[in-house]
Amino acid sequence: MAEQQFWSSRTTFILAVVGSAVGLGNLWRFPYIAYANGGGAFLIPYLIALLTAGIPLLILEMGVGYKTRAGAPLAFRKLLGGRYDIAGWIAALIAFLIVTYYAVIIAWSVDYAFFSLDLAWGSDPGAFFYGSFLGLSEGVSTFGTINMLILAGAVVAWLWIYFSIFKGVRSVEKMVWITVVLPWLLIIVFVIRGVTLPGAMDGIAYYLTPDFGALLNIDVWIAAYGQIFYSLSLGMAIIIAYSRFLGEEQDVVKNGIIIAFANSFTSIFAGLAVFSTLGYLAHVNGVAVTEVVRSGIELVFVTYPAAISALPVAPEFFGVLFFIMLVTLGIDSAFSLVEATSAAIQDYIRKPEWLINGVICVVAFVVGTFYMTSSGLYWLDIVDHYIMYFLLILVGLSETVFIGYVYGPPKLRAFVNQFSDWRIGRWWDYCIMLIVPGFLAIALLINVVDGITNPYGGYPGFANLVGWGIVITIPVLAVIISFLVKEPPAGDEDVVSE
Ligand code: PHE
Repeated sequence: MAEQQFWSSRTTFILAVVGSAVGLGNLWRFPYIAYANGGGAFLIPYLIALLTAGIPLLILEMGVGYKTRAGAPLAFRKLLGGRYDIAGWIAALIAFLIVTYYAVIIAWSVDYAFFSLDLAWGSDPGAFFYGSFLGLSEGVSTFGTINMLILAGAVVAWLWIYFSIFKGVRSVEKMVWITVVLPWLLIIVFVIRGVTLPGAMDGIAYYLTPDFGALLNIDVWIAAYGQIFYSLSLGMAIIIAYSRFLGEEQDVVKNGIIIAFANSFTSIFAGLAVFSTLGYLAHVNGVAVTEVVRSGIELVFVTYPAAISALPVAPEFFGVLFFIMLVTLGIDSAFSLVEATSAAIQDYIRKPEWLINGVICVVAFVVGTFYMTSSGLYWLDIVDHYIMYFLLILVGLSETVFIGYVYGPPKLRAFVNQFSDWRIGRWWDYCIMLIVPGFLAIALLINVVDGITNPYGGYPGFANLVGWGIVITIPVLAVIISFLVKEPPAGDEDVVSE
């Protein structure tokens, strides 16, 4: 291993993990999911999911990274031996695949920060986004050429990502002060701007009015667990990679709980910005709030621009701020993904970190050009769907089964409790052995059945075949890598003892 580095303070470690967790999903995924699954009542399953799955799994991944001081593949090999590293390789490969398109969304945001200067989307932001900007093609198989504006945005995004990590922890620690604190401040700005607009309260009422009947619906609970899992960046080798830099005698449990609550609070709070603005947009257009509610890409690149244009004062200014917020929300999630991939490689290839990170960034950038073509948006949607619905769950399931049934939760629990201000009890073992794998197994089953009976997104058969191809290829690739790599020279002396 390259010379051992450590986080220089507890705060920077927390900020780095929060930076990964707090991403676009807090803004475009959580508020919508809450709205669609019981409004204020959703907070109950959400909180239960946080306590019984999010925090337990976060602590598990932190413990695994800290104890082994290794990236995900080597971490599982050190703990369990044999071929258990396969799950780590799947996670590292997923992280790489995700960042190839996550960075493209950041690239769009960079472009939109410039478009905001003169509200370039005009009076029809939808036509602008899909037509003039993306030049979206008729269908998945009409690729067209690479969009130069997006390419330029991606260059900015990737330079920023690389600059944030090229010296590993030393760079990350400095950057997170910007990429975590700035979006937080901007979310506050947008909440204040939002709630002081006419119609805001109507929007917020849609977001938070509880529908307790929803709690009887199993889908609502699955949405809650799914959101927690995705939001905390679990199953992507990230938390393991970041935790391998924890110094001597570090707290795990309390750090994990702080991180988890900071992330959830950000989501709930960001929902106020989103729904107050949607309320305003509905008010301006004289339609019901339900007419304007959107999530994901459509929310931030179509609906928000419309709302920004409608702002009574300085719309250009708020537009620029909004897209800077998106970029800074996304950038630390993106570089955490690169770190996750890089950690896996660094354990096996003894080359300087700046070089390994540089190669990953360049390759991911080049692969990402695929998503900059005219059909890029379709493919981004397809690949994201298949990763999130199958591979991510597979990794989470493997992790909990490995620790729950092979390694033994009490051993890891004793380790993480050692230097923690707060200690976890036996309940954690049950979460790791039963609740988390139980939920993930059910979700995987439902998704597989659903995926087979109901091909995703109305895309043609071959596009869905590519999706399934990825779901099968990644694990196969992970097995091949596992057999190809040689035991790294470092041996076991890095394992932090109990
Ligand atoms: N946790 C991030 C969010 O909620 C999403 C993310 C996805 C982060 C992939 C890292 C990797 O937006």
